[in-house]
Amino acid sequence: MSYDTSTGIVVLYDTKEYKSLDKKTSGQLSSVCKLKKFDDNDNASATISFPSKVNVDSITVVKTSASTAQQWREFGGAQAKAHKGKVDNLVFDIDGNNEEIYEGAMLALYSFNKYKTVKKDDKPLNIQIDAVTDVSIHESVYFARDLITEPGNVLYPASYAQRINDELTPLGVNVRVFHQSQLEAMGFDLLLSVGQGSTKDSYVVVMEWMNGNDEQPLALVGKGVTFDTGGISIKPSAGMGDMKYDMGGSGAVVGAMHAIASHNVEQNVVGIVGLVENMPDGNSIKPGDVVTSLSGMTVENLNTDAEGRLVLGDILTFVQREYDPNRIIDLATLTGAIVISLGEEAAGLFTNSTSWGQEILDAGKRSGEGFWRMPMGQNWNKMIDSDIADIKNIGGGRNGGSTTAAEFLYRFVDQERAWAHLDIAGVCWNGKGNDNVPGGAVGFGVRTLYDIANQTPLSYDIDEDMKY
Ligand code: BES
Ligand code: MN
Ligand code: ZN
Repeated sequence: MSYDTSTGIVVLYDTKEYKSLDKKTSGQLSSVCKLKKFDDNDNASATISFPSKVNVDSITVVKTSASTAQQWREFGGAQAKAHKGKVDNLVFDIDGNNEEIYEGAMLALYSFNKYKTVKKDDKPLNIQIDAVTDVSIHESVYFARDLITEPGNVLYPASYAQRINDELTPLGVNVRVFHQSQLEAMGFDLLLSVGQGSTKDSYVVVMEWMNGNDEQPLALVGKGVTFDTGGISIKPSAGMGDMKYDMGGSGAVVGAMHAIASHNVEQNVVGIVGLVENMPDGNSIKPGDVVTSLSGMTVENLNTDAEGRLVLGDILTFVQREYDPNRIIDLATLTGAIVISLGEEAAGLFTNSTSWGQEILDAGKRSGEGFWRMPMGQNWNKMIDSDIADIKNIGGGRNGGSTTAAEFLYRFVDQERAWAHLDIAGVCWNGKGNDNVPGGAVGFGVRTLYDIANQTPLSYDIDEDMKY
C-alpha cells in the first residue's frame, strides 16, 4: 500500500490487516499494543504517528466491542471525528461492517458553514473504505439537515416549496405545489388558520413516487412549520430561535423522498408536507376562534401554539382522500411534553396498529434511530372534546400532552386505516452532537423512513382498543 502523506489509517487489533501492517512496520504496532495492554482491555486504542516504512501520518489500532450495525456506525463516526482536521484522507483498513462504518463516518462529517464569511476548520476529510456499494444515504440526510438548519428568513413556505421542487423533480419525483390561494379554494382552512398572521403565504407540497405496481401507497406526512413563535399564545423569548427547526418532520419526509428516488425504490410512496409560519399579528388566529377543517370537523383553537396538529389534520384528510394509502406515518416536532418524556434519545411512537408500529420499531432498530411506543386510548381522546365545537386543540392542562396531541391527529384518521405518528420534538436537534451528528440538525427519520419504504407492504390490523 502507498498513501499520500496526509493520511491516517484505522485498523482493528488482531485482524489480518493489522498483522500485515505490523509486519510492514517491523512490529511497531504490536509493540505499542503490548505496552498499552490491548489483551487485557476490550476498548483499547493507540495511535502511532509517522510509523516507520509506511508512508502515512498515523496508524490507529482499535480494539472494539462493536457488534450491532449502530455500534459500527458510531465507531465510524468517532474515528472520522477524531481524524477530522488532522489528515486529508482516512483509510479504514477493515474487512466487514464497511457500509455501516462508512455511513457513520459520513453522518459525523456533515457541516453547515454557508453563513460563515471566514471559513475555518472545514478542511474536508476523505473517507476510503473498501467494498462499500451503497454510498449515498448520507446525502439524503445532509439534504434534510440543510433544510432544518436554514434560518426562518431563508427557509419559509415559498422558498421551501421551491427547494423541494428543485431537488426532487430531477430525481423523477412528481412534485405538486399547492399555493395558499389554491388551498383556500380546496378548503384547507385549518392549516391556513395557522399561517394567517404571517406575511408569508402557506403551501402544501405533495411528492409522488409511484414506482411500484398497483398496490396502495405508503404515505409520509410531515409538519413543516418554518418558524413557530407560538402566535398570539406567544412563546417566551428564551430559546425561541430553536423554533426554526419546527419543520423537522417535513425535513425527514423530504429527505426520505430524496433517498427513495435516488435509489429507485420499487414501491408506491407519497410524501406530503404542510408549510406554514406561525406569527402573531392583527390577522392572526386568536384563542377561542373556531375553524372548520377540510374534513368538515370544527376545531376550537384554545392555544395558538398548538399549531402543528392543525397543519397535520388537514393534510392527513387530504392524503387519505386523494391517495387512499394502506398505511400512514406522520412526523412532527409536535410537543414539548415528549421531550420531557423521552429526552433526546427516542421519538414517541403513537399508533392504532400494533403490526404497523412493530414494522416501524424494527426499521428504527436497523437504522439506529430510537423509537418508543407511547399509549393512546379513548379516555385521552375525550380530553379534546370541545364545549362549543367538535374538538379543541389542547387537552386541558399540560398533563398527557403528547398523547392528547396524538389523539387530536387520530380524529382525522379514517376507521380501518393503519396510522402512526412520530413526535420528534426531542430528537430533531442535537445541540451537543454525538458520534453520528456533529451538533445541530440530526436529520432524524430519513434513514428509518427509507428502510420502511423498502419493505414489502403487509396487511395491517387495527387494534381492537383503538376502535373509537
Ligand atoms: N413546536 C412546538 C413543540 C416543540 C417543543 C418542538 C420543543 C420542539 C422542541 C409545538 O408547536 C408547541 O408549541 N407545542 C406546545 C403545545 C401546547 C401549547 C399544548 C407545547 O408543547 O408546549
Ligand atoms: Mn407551537
Ligand atoms: Zn410547533
